[in-house]
Amino acid sequence: MKKSNTEEDLQFFLNAIEKPIAVINLQGILLKANQTFTDVFGVNEEDCIEQIVTGQSLETWKNILQRTIHEKKVNCELQMVFFKVETYTVDMSLRFDETTEKVIIYMYLPYELMHLPQYNMNNLPTKLEELMIICDANGRIQNVGGLARKYFSQSKEKLLQYSVEQILSLFPEHSLDLEVLRREVDEMGYMETVQKYIHATGHVRYYKIAAIKDHITNLYLIKIKDQTKETIVQQQLAHKDSLLEVGQLAASVAHEIRNPITTLKGFTQLLKVTAEEETLKYLNVIEDEIHRMEEILSEMLNLSKPTVRNKKIISVNGLIKNIVRIIHPKATLENKKIIQNYERNFEMCLVGEEGRLKQVFLNLLKNSLESMHPGGTLSIFTQKCEGNFVNIIIKDTGKGIDEQNLNQIFMPYFTTRPDGTGLGLPFVLKTVEDHEGTVSVSSEVGKGTSFILTFPLIEQNYAIHKETVKEIVG
Ligand SMILES: Nc1ncnc2c1ncn2[C@@H]1O[C@H](COP(=O)(O)OP(=O)(O)OP(=O)(O)O)[C@@H](O)[C@H]1O
Ligand SMILES: [Mg+2]
Repeated sequence: MKKSNTEEDLQFFLNAIEKPIAVINLQGILLKANQTFTDVFGVNEEDCIEQIVTGQSLETWKNILQRTIHEKKVNCELQMVFFKVETYTVDMSLRFDETTEKVIIYMYLPYELMHLPQYNMNNLPTKLEELMIICDANGRIQNVGGLARKYFSQSKEKLLQYSVEQILSLFPEHSLDLEVLRREVDEMGYMETVQKYIHATGHVRYYKIAAIKDHITNLYLIKIKDQTKETIVQQQLAHKDSLLEVGQLAASVAHEIRNPITTLKGFTQLLKVTAEEETLKYLNVIEDEIHRMEEILSEMLNLSKPTVRNKKIISVNGLIKNIVRIIHPKATLENKKIIQNYERNFEMCLVGEEGRLKQVFLNLLKNSLESMHPGGTLSIFTQKCEGNFVNIIIKDTGKGIDEQNLNQIFMPYFTTRPDGTGLGLPFVLKTVEDHEGTVSVSSEVGKGTSFILTFPLIEQNYAIHKETVKEIVG
């Protein structure tokens, strides 16, 4: 299992042993306190510090407060009541801030108290940005804090009835169990892993699970944090690497293959001139196949071209209408309906390479048509969104993509079609990213698929004369 973000985990440790800090006014009323302070003393803002000082120390406390106001800075010890029942003598530092007329109290908790289970482990802060679970070596959960409902769609009370083993079994890949977790923590001091989680609604999230052990109480502290955004970025970067490899490979072999293909094509055409009807049939098949080889080659080469070249200002709606015009006859022939709905309030323009962008939409529309039976509907929308971006949505009522394939469709050569190259979507992703855009997909098996492309638009006042735009998009 991967270990990283030591800093973050260190911070996580520090938070866990945070010392109590409070700000009070000159009457000893609590104005502000950190989580540890409110947890260990069970007090809230506007309570009086006198409530948590033992009876016999009350006079001492009043003296300390007066001394602090005069001397500005006092270090002392005081007998206090923790968790509303336990009495301990604690060292504390007090500072008087003249400008705000407030006193800051900083406490050093006695060793025994810091290691009481209820302080160190069981008193989880209530406001947590993640989910924390405390359990013993057998996986029996002692306490849960934080976003139980958000992470597992369960209340804290419900999770408390689970064992850690049961919680870990909720992750579909089953690569982590209590035994692995305990072994890693015992050997390495801590453990960290990212696991996939699927919500009941079908939403896929990625959770980082980190665990440490408190050697005095022998309890394990498990922190679960949503890491979906970071994981997806990492996956996209991994795709980029594989695209780069395909590109390099393509560049090196394309040249070698192009020449013999040209020769084959030339001779086939020559043979066709004199061929008899029967031979002509086979020669036509050879020619079609050569044509397909050329197409594959040029798609591979497209992947290897790194940046946007021949940039132009392009009208988004114009570009898409043009592509729809190209595929309309095919759709009609196959009895598939096309619905179009364009943003009309803005003239949306982007800067890009028209040829490649056309190819992007052709690929997507072709995929959608291929996924649908006759009677299916393909919808194309454009809509301007906040921050000067455009969303282009291509939605079909096709067969959909199951979750396992959904993770692979942008990988070069991934295809489920017998005559597919699997280079269509990698080209789409690369081209969109070259144009500073993003692609997202959602799909439901048996219902259909939606691709959403988002591109940055050029500023309105740059949205040049419509005539020029028309000319550019033909
Ligand atoms: N709209 C869609 N609906 C269902 N599946 C899709 C859709 N778009 C893509 N896919 C899936 O993604 C795979 C990869 O698509 P991609 O366009 O990269 O290659 P291909 O369509 O198989 O081949 P090619 O584009 O070269 O003809 C397809 O084989 C198909 O399984
Ligand atoms: Mg395709």
